Amino acid sequence: MEIDRRVFLATLGSTAVINAMPDEEKAEALEHYMTHKLDEQTTGNELVIRRGSGDLFGSQPQSAGEPVRAPRALKQLERMPEKPTLVDFFTYRFAPATHVLQSATDAMKKGEKEETILACLMHDVVLNLIKVDHGWWGAQMIEPYVSEKVSWAIRHHQALRFYPDESVGYHYPEQYIRIFGKEYVPEPYIKKTYEYARNHKWYMEARMITVHDLYAFQPDMKVSLDPFIDIIGRHFKQPKEGLGFDGSPTAHMWRSMIFPDHPL
Ligand SMILES: [Fe+2]
Ligand SMILES: [Fe+2]
Repeated sequence: MEIDRRVFLATLGSTAVINAMPDEEKAEALEHYMTHKLDEQTTGNELVIRRGSGDLFGSQPQSAGEPVRAPRALKQLERMPEKPTLVDFFTYRFAPATHVLQSATDAMKKGEKEETILACLMHDVVLNLIKVDHGWWGAQMIEPYVSEKVSWAIRHHQALRFYPDESVGYHYPEQYIRIFGKEYVPEPYIKKTYEYARNHKWYMEARMITVHDLYAFQPDMKVSLDPFIDIIGRHFKQPKEGLGFDGSPTAHMWRSMIFPDHPL
């Protein structure tokens, strides 16, 4: 296997950094680099992580929209409190959570009812865990703790995102052309889900999530979790044992975000 010395050295940093490096550290870095290169050659694929993985597991934040081609430095995670609340998850795992905070802020400004605001706040938090089919995962994860309407809305917003509804001013998102490409046709199960949701009595519950689903960063919008604390208190049934430890059917999903580094 041929190694371009200059390319390898460039991965280590500046000349000063390289000179200060002990030999065994250099050797180890070289081995690392070669293993990585070899993997690339054998798989013929530069992607280092599946696009459907969650942010906590190394995927790029969804708004970046690009397949991951280089390892991303993962931020150090703080240990969570023993009985974590939803607010703790926002603080320790979801932060900065700009996208969902923007959605919820928009919903609040436009006078939506509290459950819709909560649905907007929670609609994409599961992207920290997993991205593929995030509507279904996200709904399931919070199902034991919210009203049926809120989880229904979150489950179906994923499919509705692909289908405009001019009656409420919802257009096909620009962002989706970047993420999925111009010619993208949603999978048949997405279309079927849309058709089902379209005719459901709660259609507007899910549709309103898409209406407030602002992708572009809004520089003029200051976001914080504070305005939503009371709404969480009224509409999210916080288990006294802490999320992840209450024995609910989805507790393991919360635990996976508490301990994303556990090997098994
Ligand atoms: Fe979403
Ligand atoms: Fe979203």
